Amino acid sequence: MRVHVVDHPLVSHKLTNLRDENTDSPTFRRLVDQLVTLLAYEATRDVRVGPVDIVTPVGPTSGVRLTDPQPLVVPILRAGLGMLDGMMRLLPTAEVGFLGMMRNEETLQASTYAERLPDDLSGRQCYVLDPMLATGGTLAAAIRFLTDRGADDITAICLLAALEGCERLERDLAGLDVPVTVVTAAMDEKLNDKGYIVPGLGDAGDRLYG
Ligand code: PRP
Repeated sequence: MRVHVVDHPLVSHKLTNLRDENTDSPTFRRLVDQLVTLLAYEATRDVRVGPVDIVTPVGPTSGVRLTDPQPLVVPILRAGLGMLDGMMRLLPTAEVGFLGMMRNEETLQASTYAERLPDDLSGRQCYVLDPMLATGGTLAAAIRFLTDRGADDITAICLLAALEGCERLERDLAGLDVPVTVVTAAMDEKLNDKGYIVPGLGDAGDRLYG
């Protein structure tokens, strides 16, 4: 598993505003949208493209285009939905599948309550959207879901990650024969006793959707 913490002043600036408890919901949603687009630029560095020949108004040349099958973007409901528009701005031809997952606030165990994904993901590159990687349980289950259907390359875009969640994710996915990358704006130091990322930004789902 590869973890990429995006180091860019604009990303840090937007993340700081996102963390601020004085940021209201409309501003929070707009910042999430902008931040995802910046992270997506880094996260799609290895998106699959193939050579094409084209003709410009001045003459022939060659370039690249995204290859089929198009990537699959998977927001994890509920909070991941707030990241979808910002992602689709960069990958407008991607297909979208949905996973509804909820973390039990007592046990911190993730469970799946909804799923709308293609049955066969063989040969698909998948981009999972979830703002928070806290204990890592939700993302580990989501990644297993996708690889069980044949996905062969997975990148998770998280606004924030906790170090211990990343370590758990790596343990949970040990032996998985599929490349997994986590792209995040920051790696926070710890979780509190409720499983919240510290310093974090609070409950992303609540701040997006109330
Ligand atoms: C939050 C968050 C992640 C998950 C992270 O979702 O959006 O999906 O918890 O926690 P983990 O890494 O410890 O599994 P939540 O279950 O609160 O649902 P929501 O998106 O509907 O708010």
